[in-house]
Amino acid sequence: MPPMSKNVYIETFGCQMNLADTETVLARLKDEDYQQIETSENADLILYNTCSVRDGAEAKIRGRMGDLKKVKKQRPDLRIGIMGCMAQREQEALLKQYPHLDLVVGTDQFVHMPALLKQLDEGERLAATEFGDFEERNWSSLRTEGINAWVPVMRGCNYNCTYCIVPKTRGKEKSRPLNLIIDDIKELVDRGFAQVTLLGQTIDAYGKTLGDGNNLASLLRAVHEIDGLKRIRYITSHPKDITDELLHTIGELPRVCKHLHVPAQCGSSRILRLMGRRYTRDEYLHFADRARTIIPNVELLTDMIVGFPRETDEDFQESVSLMNEVRFDGAFVFIYSPRPGTGAYNLADDVSMEVKKARCNELLAIQLGHQQEMYASMHGQTHEILVEGPSKSNDQKLCGRTIGNRNIIFPRFDENGNSRDHLISNLASITIDSSTNLSLFGDLV
Ligand code: SAH
Ligand code: SF4
Ligand code: F3S
Repeated sequence: MPPMSKNVYIETFGCQMNLADTETVLARLKDEDYQQIETSENADLILYNTCSVRDGAEAKIRGRMGDLKKVKKQRPDLRIGIMGCMAQREQEALLKQYPHLDLVVGTDQFVHMPALLKQLDEGERLAATEFGDFEERNWSSLRTEGINAWVPVMRGCNYNCTYCIVPKTRGKEKSRPLNLIIDDIKELVDRGFAQVTLLGQTIDAYGKTLGDGNNLASLLRAVHEIDGLKRIRYITSHPKDITDELLHTIGELPRVCKHLHVPAQCGSSRILRLMGRRYTRDEYLHFADRARTIIPNVELLTDMIVGFPRETDEDFQESVSLMNEVRFDGAFVFIYSPRPGTGAYNLADDVSMEVKKARCNELLAIQLGHQQEMYASMHGQTHEILVEGPSKSNDQKLCGRTIGNRNIIFPRFDENGNSRDHLISNLASITIDSSTNLSLFGDLV
C-alpha cells in the first residue's frame, strides 16, 4: 500500500542558515510524502527551527510550546519537534521541560529527520543532538520560490566572541568542498534562480578547514564562472579575515555584490577586547578605509551590540563616533542579552535595561540620519537593480536591489497600464527620483 501523505507545519526563527536548513528538512520530508502546510491546525507534524542568539528568540519558542500543550492533549497523534540552535543548546532537557514535545534534533542531525521520525513511530520520544558528524554532500533542498537561493558554504564558527552562543550551537567551523557548492549552484541556475547568497557565520574564513588552497576569493571566482547567474551575495564577514586579495576579487567581478556585512559590534577597544573580537577600534576603521579604497562603491553593513557588561557612557560614545566616522550603509542594533554557557555570562549584566534601550535608540537614530542623507544624495542617479518582485508594502510597485544592497521601488505598470512583471528576475536600470527614510523610489530609464 502506498504511504498516506502527511502534513508538516514548520516555523523558522533566526538567521538565513536556519532558513537554509529548513529548506533541506522540507526536501527530505517531501521524499517521505510529507507536504508543507501554511498553518499548524491540520498538521501531523509541527517543527520549530529555533534560534538561541538572544533570550527574546528563545522566549518566542517557549511561548509556542506553551500554546501546544492543550493541542497535544486533544490530538495525541500530533508530533512536535524542535530543531536548530535551541535544540542543540538544551538537548534532552527540552524533553523534560515539555512533556508534549516528541523530538529534539540538533544542528548536525536534521538531515536525518525522516529516520528520526520513523524511530519515533516505534517508541520513545527522543533527542538526536550528536555533534560534529554533519555529512557533507548535496542534500537537495526545497528552495522557496523567488529570485534568491540560500547556499550554505560552511557551518559552525571558530571564533569565540564572549557574548555569542553560536559556536556552542553550531560547533566548529567546517567548509563545504568547492566542487559540491559549484554543482549545487549549477542546479539552482538550471532551476531558474537569478541570485545565490553564500552563507557562513564567518564567510570570509571559507576554505580554512579544507586545506586545498581554496578561500572565499577562489570560491567567488568559481561561482562567477557559472553562466546564467546574475548576482552573487555572501554573508556574514568577520573583519579579521578580510584580505586585500578578497577585496580586490569582490571589486573585479561584476556579478559579485559590492556589499559587506561586517559587524563592528562596538566602537570601544576596551569593550571589543572584553567581547573577544580580536580587533581594535583603529583596526576596524582601517579595515573600512581599505574596503572603500579598493571597492569604491562598496556598501558596509554593521551589527552593533549595546549594553555589554561594563559598557560605560564613554565606551558607548565611542560606538557613536565609530558610526559617525564610518557612516555605515546599514546597521542592525542589538541589546546585549546574556547567554548561559558563553564567556561573558560570568560578567555581571550591569547596564540597566533603561540605559540599554536609550543607547539602542540613539544608535538607530544615528543610522537613520545617515541613511536619510545618503538617500537624498542619490536622487538623479541611475542604478542597475535585480528586480525581485512586487513591493511588500504596495503591490502596484515592483522592487529590486542594487549591486550593493539598496532596495529601489518603481511602478509596476507603465504609462499605458502595461505590466512590467516580465522584469522580475532580470536586471533593470532605474533613475532615482525620491526617497523616504527607509526606501528609494524611481522609474525605468
Ligand atoms: N556570525 C555573524 C553573526 C552571528 S549572530 C558574525 O559573526 O558576524 C548575529 C548578531 O547578533 C551578531 O553580529 C551580534 O551583533 C548579535 N548578537 C550575538 N549574540 C548576542 C547577544 N548575546 N546579545 C545581543 N546580541 C547578540
Ligand atoms: Fe558569534 Fe563571533 Fe562567531 Fe560571529 S564570529 S558567530 S559573533 S562567535
Ligand atoms: Fe540564531 Fe543559530 Fe542563527 S543562534 S542567529 S539561528 S546560528
